[in-house]
Amino acid sequence: MTPTPSIRTIGVLTSGGDAPGMNASIRAVVRTGLAHNLRVMGIYNGYEGLINGEFREMGPRDVGGILQHGGTILRTRRSALFKEKRGRREAIRRMNESGIDALVIIGGDGSLRGAYALSQEGVPVIGIPASIDNDIWGTHMSVGVDTALNTIMEAVDKLRDTASSHNRAFLIETMGRGCGYLAVMAGITCGAEMVLIPEVDVPLEEVATAIEDAYRRGKTHAIIIVAEGYRMGAQELSQALEEMDIGFHTRVTILGHIQRGGRPTAFDRLLASRMGKRAVEALIAGEHGMMTGLQGRQITLIPLSQVVEKNRSANLEYFEMAKMLAR
Ligand code: F6P
Repeated sequence: MTPTPSIRTIGVLTSGGDAPGMNASIRAVVRTGLAHNLRVMGIYNGYEGLINGEFREMGPRDVGGILQHGGTILRTRRSALFKEKRGRREAIRRMNESGIDALVIIGGDGSLRGAYALSQEGVPVIGIPASIDNDIWGTHMSVGVDTALNTIMEAVDKLRDTASSHNRAFLIETMGRGCGYLAVMAGITCGAEMVLIPEVDVPLEEVATAIEDAYRRGKTHAIIIVAEGYRMGAQELSQALEEMDIGFHTRVTILGHIQRGGRPTAFDRLLASRMGKRAVEALIAGEHGMMTGLQGRQITLIPLSQVVEKNRSANLEYFEMAKMLAR
């Protein structure tokens, strides 16, 4: 494959919340670009770095030994200025000044909205979905989700040991913004007694009854996964439940940013690498304004215009399945 004449130099950046596997994507973008005789520029600090011209040419050794690490060697930011037209205009000016013809943008929902805005202003862009939330439309899995789920699973397994020793109900809060994907999948893979997600409005009384039922059925503990975005946080829920008679005493664990770190799983390394390679090949073939997505076993391209229209939410069949298996 020979580069499209107009694309000689590509830039790669990571933006928004970091996700395990971002480094594997950076590595794949850099090395695929170099393999096709492109010049590859690393852009540091997300869109802020694009605006400020924080660029550095990347060689193959610059991305050596990063595949197995969480976080992002290019670092990341959430940029308010880039949401404004003047921020994007400055970013495009910086790109032109440095001869960057096209971009690969690795990030979540907000980052892909930024990518779409840039593409509408004429910049050739390919997005790679990377966010632990799995709320990005157009891909079954985003980079980082599998690792985050494994991190949650390991934590919940440990919490269950202490929960059952003390006959307690543990309320474990998972991340996900408005999407209950991680919570539902954790509910199934950890055998939780209950899962609470933003997509399904379970009232407090129903939560209390379900926990009390578990107690009466002789369970030694109750694990309740509370997704971020549910009508109340785990802490508030615990306080409310302590005032009701549910059998167990409650304890709260907010997993927080631990879910975003750590060594990416094999699944995430592979997904991130495949998407990185596909992104560069798409730019070379003159395809842009798109996002790489996982559909079945294939890496496909979806127009960013469709990606930004909706968000993916938790699969309610799996939600029901988690409930049924909690008997
Ligand atoms: O989008 C990833 C995510 O971790 C969400 O799950 C969470 O709501 C948010 O980012 C936290 O953002 P920050 O790292 O800025 O606190």
